[in-house]
Amino acid sequence: MAILPIVTVPDPLLKKVSEPVEKVDDKVRAFLDDMLETMYAAPGIGLAAVQVGKLWRILVIDIASDDEEPNPMYFINPVITWTSEEFNTYNEGCLSIPEQYADVERPAECKVDFIDYNGDEKEIHADGLLATCIQHEMDHLNGVVFIDYLSKIKRGIYVRKVKKLVREKEE
Ligand code: NI
Repeated sequence: MAILPIVTVPDPLLKKVSEPVEKVDDKVRAFLDDMLETMYAAPGIGLAAVQVGKLWRILVIDIASDDEEPNPMYFINPVITWTSEEFNTYNEGCLSIPEQYADVERPAECKVDFIDYNGDEKEIHADGLLATCIQHEMDHLNGVVFIDYLSKIKRGIYVRKVKKLVREKEE
């Protein structure tokens, strides 16, 4: 396993639409393992493949709290098939927009079809933090990050802050 470098805004890669995975083979599974390790090391609760430079429709998520057992979830080619009419607001963050947070409103529940780590077709009905996290990560697959929901001015401020953070890290 390996910890992969995480792409941050304003990298144009984050605006790209990811492609479906054709087959879940050992190469894909090794990549899933690397994604999970990268997410845990960051640390974060969700990661999309594009955030580590690969345009595959893949997410890893683990929303277990520190006092719970790890509960890694793998979503390959996920498709949202239903969203609730009720909305939820969460203060969201993103490993590609480090140390910046903003309230984002999304459907409170969603149903998702996906392929799991073993290549089996699955469906999940998510609510709470998991529903938000899935929708946030699915946005990445379509070239959208959470600051795209904010005003242009706020977005600019966030991007400048991230650029400064990244510069400082490199020094
Ligand atoms: Ni994100």
